Amino acid sequence: MTFNFLRNKKLLFDQWASSYDWLFPSVIYQAIHKRLLEYVDLPKRANILDMGCGTGRLLERLATKFPDICGTGLDLSSNMLRIARQSDRHHPRLIYIEGQAESLPFAEGQFEAVFSTISFLHYLEPQKVLSEVARVLSPGGRFYLVDITTKKEEAPQILPISPLGIRLYSPQQRELLGSSAGLLCLSHQYLLGPVLLTTFTKLS
Ligand SMILES: C[S@@+](CC[C@H](N)C(=O)[O-])C[C@H]1O[C@@H](n2cnc3c(N)ncnc32)[C@H](O)[C@@H]1O
Repeated sequence: MTFNFLRNKKLLFDQWASSYDWLFPSVIYQAIHKRLLEYVDLPKRANILDMGCGTGRLLERLATKFPDICGTGLDLSSNMLRIARQSDRHHPRLIYIEGQAESLPFAEGQFEAVFSTISFLHYLEPQKVLSEVARVLSPGGRFYLVDITTKKEEAPQILPISPLGIRLYSPQQRELLGSSAGLLCLSHQYLLGPVLLTTFTKLS
């Protein structure tokens, strides 16, 4: 089930990759990245991860605003990563790796911040992903989760778009999911319409 689920998601994004940056949703996503930056605070020389990085637009923006950071983009889709590498103006400060959010190929405590924009809603096993985020974050590190939210309290609200649907979580559901992985919710901010930034910190 999980294998087929991930294979179908990968197929979807592999097919979408070449036009991704030019289609309407991406214009919205880039506006969201811009708003997100208003809330991001990084320590000097931070090592950061963008999980489900797509074509790497958020990392490019972060690397421009914070010239001393190093960043890794991870994604399921090799075609998305190809575009990200082609437009990587900050190499070798930014690198891109193929992998799954459910089993991050990184060491414990390796990142000062982890980002996820419009990707968490695709995950079938959110608890597993959050445990992985908590594992790779350093103590006190931040997790910036940006996704469409819902007001419905039944967890999660599943919408029948994309292979096997997308999953939306209310602010309270995000807090509960985070706390069971050792991530404390610091704040919620609406960035654009129903797109909500939830900032977590890893408990020391
Ligand atoms: C809608 S795109 C968002 C891309 C980028 N974060 C942005 O803001 O433009 C969702 C991305 O999540 C990736 N993705 C979906 N499920 C994933 C998983 N289980 N592990 C890693 N990446 C995943 C997809 O391949 C896709 O590139």
